[in-house]
Amino acid sequence: MSFPKGFVWGAAASSYQIEGAAHEDGKGPSTWDMFCQKEGTIWNGQSGDVACDHYHRYKEDIGVMKQIGLCAYRLSISWPRVIPQGRGAINPKGLEFYDKLIDELLAADVSPYVTLFHWDYPYELYCRGGWLNRDSSDWFTEYVRVVVEKLSDRVKYWITLNEPQCFIGLGHQLGMHAPGDKLKFAEVLTAAHNALLAHGKAVQTIRAYSKVECQIGLALAGIVSIPATDSSEDVEAARQAMFSVTYKNCWNNTWWTDPVFFGRYPEDGLKLFGSDVPPIQDKDMKTICQPSDFFGVNIFFGQTIRTNKDGWPEAVLPPVGYAMTAFRWPVSPEALYWGPRFFGERYKLPIIITENGVSNVDWVSLDGKVHDPQRIDFLNRYLLELQKVCKHGVEVRGYFHWSILDNFEWTEGYKERFGLVYVDYPTQKRIAKDSAYWYKEVIASNGAILGKP
Ligand code: FCB
Repeated sequence: MSFPKGFVWGAAASSYQIEGAAHEDGKGPSTWDMFCQKEGTIWNGQSGDVACDHYHRYKEDIGVMKQIGLCAYRLSISWPRVIPQGRGAINPKGLEFYDKLIDELLAADVSPYVTLFHWDYPYELYCRGGWLNRDSSDWFTEYVRVVVEKLSDRVKYWITLNEPQCFIGLGHQLGMHAPGDKLKFAEVLTAAHNALLAHGKAVQTIRAYSKVECQIGLALAGIVSIPATDSSEDVEAARQAMFSVTYKNCWNNTWWTDPVFFGRYPEDGLKLFGSDVPPIQDKDMKTICQPSDFFGVNIFFGQTIRTNKDGWPEAVLPPVGYAMTAFRWPVSPEALYWGPRFFGERYKLPIIITENGVSNVDWVSLDGKVHDPQRIDFLNRYLLELQKVCKHGVEVRGYFHWSILDNFEWTEGYKERFGLVYVDYPTQKRIAKDSAYWYKEVIASNGAILGKP
């Protein structure tokens, strides 16, 4: 048996990373537009101003998706493109872009999975306190309603927030992503709480205004532990590590997912964070904990964990010379087994891998093609693990490759290439990489060709 029938084979991208047209057709500035202008923030001073020019080339890009045979495409909507100041006046041209994009996808038989927030936050609202402002969840909801009213006659799958750990942690604690703030931990937790409220209220809004029956989830940055061996002690140590809060930062799962799925913050986190935990109003936890239809999770790698002699989880250093990607992330395929397994067990929801992929040293060969055997091998290994976890009874509904196109990799600029399709930025020419042809076969066979040479 291969993957379940109806398994959704997709690819993903996000607005700021591919659209470009940053100052066109009435789009308002986002915190990423501003952040990229600051000296020293982005590799080689690059920005998403033009990116893949997808705003103008979306038809060509959807043509490639169709050729690959994608069942689905995960896109995100730029809030300041739709509502330039973040609140109030709607930008008809911005909304129209997404309207046409959705029609084009459906005409190509590619199902849209729409992420409502993949980090391009309206700059005007940032000036009013951004996520630190208690009203920020209502601002978000107003925007969500506009999008849902426009697109929900055709869009059935919604993702509220992408990786809250990153836009709060990297953006507000470490200052490495937009808006580039280094707040006190108590403020970081306030911003986090407001983002969680935004998730809950967005779910309510989508359910209230959707014109068709829809499915909703969020996309977590999955922090995955891989047991060092199959012994029950190591498996338990890995499970414990994956679901505990041990540092005063945003890099854990449960501070985000326990409120969303259980309606409470995890005890260990509350204890560790102590007086930094913001005041929680009466109905907050109920608002945050709205029924979800799936557990969306982005998984690129995992960390190996074993039990130490005192019975505590302990990280195992990878062996000397271990395999790593161009981004220097470890190649750890088992993350696509243990991640879905542990998350599925704890939260009891169907899993969707909303992102997985690899940044590789790709260039155009003398023959004019882009040969990326490492990506094919990477995907082969990861997808075999995903297949295994499906066989073991975990309900995995879909897999979205990150990314369809090479794109603007945040602070790394255009240096990291994650695409199935190569983008020659100076000419904006697209070249499907070998991996795109291979993924096409994977999709057509529903995974039956995996592991074959
Ligand atoms: C994830 C982000 C996505 C992309 C990949 C490589 O953390 O959600 O936008 O940058 O990493």
